[in-house]
Amino acid sequence: MRPSLSQIALSRVITIEQFIIEQERRFAPEATGELSNLLYDIGLAAKIINSHVRMAGLADILGAAGGVNVQGEVVQKLDEFANETMKHALLRTGRTCLLASEEDEQPIPIPEGYPTGKYTVLYDPLDGSSNIDVNVSIGTIFSIHKRLSPGKGPGELRDCLQPGRTQVAAGYVLYGSSTMLVYTTGQGVHGFTFDPSIGEFLLSHPNITTPPVGKYYSVNESNFPRWTLPVQGVVRRWKGADGGEAKNCRYIGSLVADFHRNLMVGGVFAYPADVNNTQGKLRLLYECAPLAFLCEHAGGYASDGQRCILDVQPSKLHQRSPLFIGSRDDVRAAELALAAGA
Ligand code: AHG
Ligand code: MN
Ligand code: MN
Repeated sequence: MRPSLSQIALSRVITIEQFIIEQERRFAPEATGELSNLLYDIGLAAKIINSHVRMAGLADILGAAGGVNVQGEVVQKLDEFANETMKHALLRTGRTCLLASEEDEQPIPIPEGYPTGKYTVLYDPLDGSSNIDVNVSIGTIFSIHKRLSPGKGPGELRDCLQPGRTQVAAGYVLYGSSTMLVYTTGQGVHGFTFDPSIGEFLLSHPNITTPPVGKYYSVNESNFPRWTLPVQGVVRRWKGADGGEAKNCRYIGSLVADFHRNLMVGGVFAYPADVNNTQGKLRLLYECAPLAFLCEHAGGYASDGQRCILDVQPSKLHQRSPLFIGSRDDVRAAELALAAGA
């Protein structure tokens, strides 16, 4: 029997595992393979979270009253589930020395009796949580650093408090109309689409680059009256007022989804500081820095309004930051306008 077209296509695909091995062979032949394995660990967590996300609406039907499902297990909130899944995938492999999650107040140590490794992973397990219950795209964001503390002992807080510039890898998973994993190790930005029929992330978007000028702007405009005048001026120009070139507006309310759309077609996302959120809303280490690293490697730029996000030295784990991110010329123009107006 002759193979069908889709069978031929499937026999030629590149899985994320094959791609990561090939990248390591090309760019870091001396590497131990630990970082590659860490990326697989995250890929595995992403598959598990994905399978739960896809069941999200059914949990209410299948689960009995009181949050107990048919197996008698307590139904976990999806963001808690995602957080536990990331911990389970990353804590016991000997590749990490400390984790930090948006959902945990303190850094997460390696459990007693397990080996420690040389990397820290900082992550937002479920981004866009207000969209979970309404079947709108959500995501997971991750940031990987090499530890600063010497030796093989437990990781220290300083291993997590590193500027974005020193990340060795960063990426996100988007649970959208299809599920995608996008990452960079500093050698291009690459996107993989999950094929549920074979349970693999397949290379679908090699070498992603973002246009220098975008056609979209993404911002929560309900905050307009609480922004500074210079921030209001920047957004007014994105609308085409005051001599700006008009852009179209798109805002989902899940950073990963808004960022991904703008990355693919060009655009700028902003979550500026306002009178209620004087440092902005988004978290530097779990949201801003990893996406900034990825954006820069795709030819874009990310700023806190004054300087490159990647140059910010964090002083605490859950630090917040204003964020302007996306098409390079748009973000630079915003930064210049804010400097002139300040
Ligand atoms: P999280 O769900 O991880 O707390 O993040 C929510 C963030 C981000 O995804 C999104 O861009 C932003 O909050 C939306 O905030 P507003 O509802 O204030 O626009
Ligand atoms: Mn988030
Ligand atoms: Mn979150």
